[in-house]
Amino acid sequence: MAGEVLSLTVNGRTREVADAHPGESLLYVLRERLGLAGAKNACEEGECGSCTVRVDGRLVCGCLVLAAAVDGSEVTTIEGLGVEGPDEAVELSDVQQAFLDAGAVQCGFCTPGLLMAIDDLLDRDPDPDDLVVREAISGNLCRCTGYGRILAAVELAGAVRRGGGGAQ
Ligand code: FES
Ligand code: FES
Repeated sequence: MAGEVLSLTVNGRTREVADAHPGESLLYVLRERLGLAGAKNACEEGECGSCTVRVDGRLVCGCLVLAAAVDGSEVTTIEGLGVEGPDEAVELSDVQQAFLDAGAVQCGFCTPGLLMAIDDLLDRDPDPDDLVVREAISGNLCRCTGYGRILAAVELAGAVRRGGGGAQ
């Protein structure tokens, strides 16, 4: 950027960054320049998925993407996953609620990335089989849960997205 202004649409809002250096990752810009700390920084080398966000609809590891390379893009972070409820209040999305209901959050460090990956999966396939779910979250490492409750949360959220009840 070197003096140029970086412009991103983040969670539907235009955000400009005037002070970023050319080598800064999207994750760094989101967290340190824009104050969006939901995407986590754990490995910084594309291994853990804790930094997962969407860029123009596609899941990426924010730590591997140069912010300058996605100038002008639409970015969705975990802060944008909630849905607007009555009185314009932001409510938990179906996947977020399912994680709470299934007890799928322990330390929570992996949770934002997993929520982004599962939201993306259920957008594409609201009734994924077990293998598809495991593949979809294979890039998101969780050190705490053993994944059983995460898989249960996917089932709950999928049922909601299919209109079959489950998490409210
Ligand atoms: S911090 Fe990006 S994949 Fe681990
Ligand atoms: S809940 Fe701790 S890493 Fe997943």
